[in-house]
Amino acid sequence: MNRRYRKTIIAGNWKMNKTATETKKFAEELKALLPKAKWCDVVVCVPAVNISAAMKAFKDMRVSIGAENLFYEKSGAYTGEWSADMLKDLGVKYVIIGHSERRQYFGETDFTVNKKVHAALEAGLHPIICVGESLEQRELGITMELIALQVKSALAGVPAEKLRKCVIAYEPVWAIGTGKTATSEQAAEVCTFIRTTVRHLYGARIARSITIQYGGSMKASNAAELLAQPDIDGGLIGGAALKADEFVDIINAANQD
Ligand code: 13P
Repeated sequence: MNRRYRKTIIAGNWKMNKTATETKKFAEELKALLPKAKWCDVVVCVPAVNISAAMKAFKDMRVSIGAENLFYEKSGAYTGEWSADMLKDLGVKYVIIGHSERRQYFGETDFTVNKKVHAALEAGLHPIICVGESLEQRELGITMELIALQVKSALAGVPAEKLRKCVIAYEPVWAIGTGKTATSEQAAEVCTFIRTTVRHLYGARIARSITIQYGGSMKASNAAELLAQPDIDGGLIGGAALKADEFVDIINAANQD
């Protein structure tokens, strides 16, 4: 973390978990546990069908609501999809784009990720852009090439003034939901590389101000060490974000000096 230059953001990605009723229960539990003063922003990204319930449930708390996906067109005959404007109108602030599960199961590509990033920014949302290598790619030694490609294609055509609205999440695919966390050295190496890539594209000032999260089996026991790395400015958390007490433990780790 480096709070002097950029925000620390702890975001939960609920994936396809929790009903509207369970959302309300989680918010009540979180409210009782959330520290009064926080040095990090807290975001909860929920399934689209539960956004309204989440808005209501979290309304008196300093917690922003995020979505897990959007479609890049503004409106039209796209059965089953929703647009950036629809999310914005509900009060959503963040939207996860290009999560590896979207890439793996729903045909998301670097090209669609880029279109979604533009759609999110145009609507005034903050995209959380996910990048990350598979185990095979890591073993082939092409992690950095792949990350550079994903970052550059996600940001293609994004003007500098809009970049400050973007968050990049480094999520090694092999660490997601596996209990296998990247070591803090591995995570730091790639997050620093992402910042260097942004610096080459946009210059030092903007690179210094962008929030770069780590995601992949982040939990209370490893959060402090990961967040102590200067280029890791937060976490995108799956499993450990589903229980209020575990999520708060991570928020507390981000609150340390
Ligand atoms: P886990 O924390 O369950 O590994 O999931 C990480 C993730 O995919 C967050 O987007």
